[in-house]
Amino acid sequence: MPLVTTKDMFQKAYDGGYAIGAFNVNNMEIVQAITEAAADLKSPLILQVSAGARKYAKHNYLVKLVEAALLETDLPIALHLDHGADFEICKSCIDGGFTSVMIDGSSLPFEENIAVAKKVAEYAHDKGVVVEAELGTLAGIEDDVNVDAESASYTQPEQVEEFVDRTGVDSLAIAIGTSHGAFKFKPGQKPMLRFDILDEVSKRLPGFPIVLHGASSVIPKYVDVINANGGKLDDAIGIPEDMLRQAARSAVCKINIDSDLRLALTAGIREHMAAHPEHFDPRQYLTDGRAYVKELVSHKIKEVLGSEGKA
Ligand code: G3H
Ligand code: 13P
Ligand code: ZN
Repeated sequence: MPLVTTKDMFQKAYDGGYAIGAFNVNNMEIVQAITEAAADLKSPLILQVSAGARKYAKHNYLVKLVEAALLETDLPIALHLDHGADFEICKSCIDGGFTSVMIDGSSLPFEENIAVAKKVAEYAHDKGVVVEAELGTLAGIEDDVNVDAESASYTQPEQVEEFVDRTGVDSLAIAIGTSHGAFKFKPGQKPMLRFDILDEVSKRLPGFPIVLHGASSVIPKYVDVINANGGKLDDAIGIPEDMLRQAARSAVCKINIDSDLRLALTAGIREHMAAHPEHFDPRQYLTDGRAYVKELVSHKIKEVLGSEGKA
C-alpha cells in the first residue's frame, strides 16, 4: 500500500483509546527494526525524519528506505517531518514525498506561530499532506532541538481553540512536562506530567488529535546494558510507562519516540562489541543493535501504545 496520511489513523486511535508510535528514523537498520516489529503486531506506523536525520542520511535515502519498508509490509505507514523549523523545510518535504509535516513554531510569539502554521497548512492541504503544529515549548537538547529548562513552558489551554481555528492544522503537539533526550528529570525528582492541562486541551478541542513529543521512557534495561559494556550514562531518566499508557488512552493519538531507539541500538552494539572485541564487520554488531530496536518497538506497541492489531 502507498504511504498514507495520519488522518484515518488518528481518527481510529482517538475513537479506540490508543496512540500511534511516531518513531524517528536515521538509517536502514532502524527503519527495518521498527517496520518488522509493527508488521508482526499489525500496528499502524508513523516513521518520522528530523532535520538532523536529513542532514545525516539525506532526504532521498530516507524516503527510499521508507518506500522499501512499504514493499515489505502491507501496513498503513505515514512519513512525517519531525520539527520542521520553517516553511521552506516543510515545503521541501511536502514536495519530496512526505505525507505529514510538523511546523515547529513553538518558540515563536503566538501570532508568528499562527502565521507560519497557517501558511504550511494551506500549502500542505493543497497537496493532500497533513500538518502538526506545536503550542508550548518542551525542554531538551538534541542535534536540532535545543531548549533549556528555563525557556520551556507548558501549553496554555486557553490558546488552543484560536490556534487550531486560525491555522487549520490537523494535530497539535502540547507541552505537559515531557522533554527531549534521555535526561528528562533531575536525579531524585519525581517524574510528573500535567494531565490537567491535557484534559483541559482535550475538552476545548473535542475529537482533535493531540501529540506528545519527548515521550521516551529511557528503559533501564538498555541503559544498564550500555553501562555494563563500557558506556557511561548516569542519571538517564524518562517518562514512566504508566503515564504514557494513560496519555495513549486519552486524546493523545501520536507519541514520539527517538531516544529509546538510540539507547536500544547502542545497547545492542555495545553488548556485541564487548562480547566480540575481535569483530569489525558492521553487519555483525548492527544485527544485534537492530534486534534490540525491534524488541523495544514491540514492547512499546504492546505495552504502551495499545496499537497492536489496529492496522
Ligand atoms: O525531537 C527531536 C528528535 O529526537 C530528533 O533528534 O534532531 O537529533 O535528529 P535529532
Ligand atoms: P525523545 O527524545 O523522548 O525520544 O523524543 C523524541 C521526539 O519528540 C521527536 O520529535
Ligand atoms: Zn520532538
